[in-house]
Amino acid sequence: MLPKKELTISRFIPGNERRKFKDIIKFLAMVIDLAEGYKFQNNYRVALSGVQLASEISLSVDSIRNVFYGGLLHDVGEVGLLEENENKINQYIHDIKPNQHTIFGSRIVSLIPTLDGVTKIIRWHHECWDGSGFPDGLKGEQIPIEAAIVSLFDAFYVIKTITDKKDDLISYLEKMKGTRFNPEIIEKFLKLYKNEELWTPENFDEVKWTAIGMDAFEIAKLQDVKGDYVEIALNVIAQVIDAKHKYTHGHSRRVMALASLIADRMGLDKNYRTLIEQGALLHDSGKVGISRSILDKESSLNDEEYQIIKKHPVISCVLIENFTTLKEVAPLAKYHHERYDGKGYPNSLVKDDIPLGARIIAVADAYDAMTSDRAYRKALPDNYARHEIRRYTGKMFDPQVVDAFLDIPEHEIKLAFDIITNQPISSISSILSSLKKN
Ligand SMILES: [Fe+2]
Ligand SMILES: [Fe+2]
Ligand SMILES: [Fe+2]
Repeated sequence: MLPKKELTISRFIPGNERRKFKDIIKFLAMVIDLAEGYKFQNNYRVALSGVQLASEISLSVDSIRNVFYGGLLHDVGEVGLLEENENKINQYIHDIKPNQHTIFGSRIVSLIPTLDGVTKIIRWHHECWDGSGFPDGLKGEQIPIEAAIVSLFDAFYVIKTITDKKDDLISYLEKMKGTRFNPEIIEKFLKLYKNEELWTPENFDEVKWTAIGMDAFEIAKLQDVKGDYVEIALNVIAQVIDAKHKYTHGHSRRVMALASLIADRMGLDKNYRTLIEQGALLHDSGKVGISRSILDKESSLNDEEYQIIKKHPVISCVLIENFTTLKEVAPLAKYHHERYDGKGYPNSLVKDDIPLGARIIAVADAYDAMTSDRAYRKALPDNYARHEIRRYTGKMFDPQVVDAFLDIPEHEIKLAFDIITNQPISSISSILSSLKKN
C-alpha cells in the first residue's frame, strides 16, 4: 500500500526542489494512515473527485489546489480521536471535544507554507448549509465553496463504503440538499455523477489533471517559499503529537529540555546537541500510531499490548525519515528504548552501539516518566528518580550519561521544565542556551 501512496503524492507535487514541502505532506499522509487506516484512500478519493467538481464549476486553479489538499488532509486533526467511544475520549481529554478535530487539523495545516487557503476548508468541512454543523455553526454562503465540496465528497465516500448502489447514493444526497449540503453544489454534483465517472486514485487521469494547469501552478506556488523547513517540520510534528496525546506533548518538551542540559554537561558540540534536542522532541512521535486505549491504560499492559507499544520507537523513526532534513535524527528516536546492557528494544544494541544521543534521551525520558503523573500513578519525587537512575547505571543507562545527569541540580531541571512548556518549538533551543549561560 505504501509505495503506491508515495508515488501518488510525488505525482501531485512535481519537481525535486519541492521535496521538503512534499516531505511534510507525505508525513501527514502517513499520520492519517496510521490513525485511520482505510480512510486514507478515501481521503485521496475526496481530493481527486473534489478537484474534478471544482474544475467543472470553473473555480480558480488556486481554489482547485486548495480543494485537493483540503480533501487529502481534512481529517489530519483526527489522529487523537481513534476508534474509542466518545465517553472514553472525554474521560481522558476533558478539554477536547471530538468535533475539535477540525480545529486541530486546521492548526496543523496552518503551519505549512502555501496552504493558508486550506486551513479554512479543514476547519469548516463539517459545517452544514442549515447552520447545524460545527465548529462555528456557519450557514449557507458563509461556508466557502471549497469546504462545501470537501464536505460533500467526504460524506459521499463514507456512504459509499456502506452502499454502492448509485440510486441509493443519489437519493441520500438529494435528501440532504439544503440541510446538510449546499443545494447548488449538490445539483452540479448530481449532474456530473449521472454522466461521468468520478476521479479516483484508481482511474486518475493525467491528461485532465494537466489540462487544469495544476502542475504549473503548483511549481509556481512553491517557488518562493522562504522559511526554515526544519523548523516548520518540527512544529508540524509537535502539533500532531499534541493532537494525539496531551501527555506525550508535555513529555516530549521536557525530555528535550533535560536531554539538552545533559548534553551540555557532557560538553558535546552545538550541532550534536541540536540533533539530540530534535531527537528528544520527536522520540515518542510514533505514539500517533498506537491506540489511546493502550497509551492511557491504567492497569498494567498485557503481553499483546506491550508488544504493540514497543513498536513506537520504530514508528517514530519511519515518520521522521519522511523528512530529508531530519534523517540524522531518526536513529536517536529509534533507539531511545535500547538498554546499555543490550536488553532493550527494538534491536538489543549494546553500549556504544547505541547512538550517544539515544543514550542521553533514555535517561531524560526515564527521569520525566518518573517525575510526572501517569494514568496509573502520581508523580514521584526528584530524589526517587535519581536513586532509580543511579541503581540502573550500567544496566539500563550509560554510566557517563548518568554522571552528567546527576550533576544537574533539581532546581535547574525544574526551571527548564517550567519555562519550555508553553514556548513555541522554534524558541526552545535558544531559551535552553540562555539558561546554560547563567
Ligand atoms: Fe472530519
Ligand atoms: Fe518512548
Ligand atoms: Fe518517552
